[in-house]
Amino acid sequence: MIRVGVIGLGMMGSTHLDVYSKRSDVTVLAISDIDPERLAGKDKAQGNIEGQAQGGADLSAVRRYDEGMKLIADPDVELVDICLPTPLHADYAIAALNAGKHVLVEKPFARTARDADRLVAAAQRCRRTLMCAMCMRFWPGWTWLKERVADQAYGKVCAAHFRRVSSHPGKSFYNDGQQCGGAILDLHIHDVDYVQYAFGRPKAVTSFGYRKVTSAIDHVVTRFDFGPRGPMVVAEGGWAMAPGFGFSMQYTVNFTHATAVFDLAASDRLTLIRNGKKEPVQLEAGMGYEHEIDYLLRCLAGGQKPSIITPRQAADAVRIVEAEVKSIQRGRKVSLTY
Ligand SMILES: NC(=O)c1ccc[n+]([C@@H]2O[C@H](COP(=O)([O-])OP(=O)(O)OC[C@H]3O[C@@H](n4cnc5c(N)ncnc54)[C@H](O)[C@@H]3O)[C@@H](O)[C@H]2O)c1
Repeated sequence: MIRVGVIGLGMMGSTHLDVYSKRSDVTVLAISDIDPERLAGKDKAQGNIEGQAQGGADLSAVRRYDEGMKLIADPDVELVDICLPTPLHADYAIAALNAGKHVLVEKPFARTARDADRLVAAAQRCRRTLMCAMCMRFWPGWTWLKERVADQAYGKVCAAHFRRVSSHPGKSFYNDGQQCGGAILDLHIHDVDYVQYAFGRPKAVTSFGYRKVTSAIDHVVTRFDFGPRGPMVVAEGGWAMAPGFGFSMQYTVNFTHATAVFDLAASDRLTLIRNGKKEPVQLEAGMGYEHEIDYLLRCLAGGQKPSIITPRQAADAVRIVEAEVKSIQRGRKVSLTY
């Protein structure tokens, strides 16, 4: 039984609490939020995906802290789950590692690549485990794609297009481009990270984007360069859609012998098209959140460091996003060095 403390009771904190409440190997020992209404459970965050942040966890017996560092100082907490606004990730995760805790930190790993590198260094110094909650690496349908890219069951990938667009969340730190980094860092990073997971780290990026809601990039389209023999990979991400648009998460991947289409909103989320026929692909139940937490808890129980997502890879995702921002500013391709 591992004793967990969750810091930040917004949409993601609430989503993680839902996951813990369904498990028998975790006790939620403590929660923390600086907002007294959130801490008391009077104000519950809403999810943007069906089934997310349902607020079903029984928190009647937990310890409550009105600031995250107070939870980190609780000697009985073994795993600190950080669901804070992005600029706080690095300092709180480093403090928790230094206090001898294991850490799960929400994506983006950090607000800047420099902060992400500080986190990587802290993880190397400490014996504890640090994992970034890169949920797409665990999402049913996306795990399938990772396997098909690797085993080439339908041939090589000729082209891949990822699309994640929504209306702006319209609340809290998401209104401030400096704080959240815009949709390019907050939302599109899911696809940036998945692209490097499935296809390797890109050599360069060419991005187009604009600001509409915040002072940062709210809508981006990027071409990832994998060299002349590599696949053609494009990702679009943004929260600049009109209010009421909702949330859309899709991919289309064209293999030599088949095309795979994922659409979160479709009744068959994943369809494989080959030999003139469309076949639905059966997927595991659930969302990436429960699978990523399950993976972390199994790693902790087995004394293994998570290898599906490492601190270095989580930092690389932030570094690639920063190259995309540069590409938009300069109007040209930007090379990446890691
Ligand atoms: N994995 C995903 O799909 C996904 C989805 C949404 C958000 N996120 C990420 O999760 C993080 C949190 O996002 P959110 O939507 O839950 O934000 P949110 O604004 O809804 O919640 C953050 C909470 O942290 C609290 N807080 C702020 N400072 C604090 C402090 N010092 N101590 C304790 N509590 C403090 C706030 O009061 C707020 O309740 C962000 O980094 C975001 O990018 C990830």
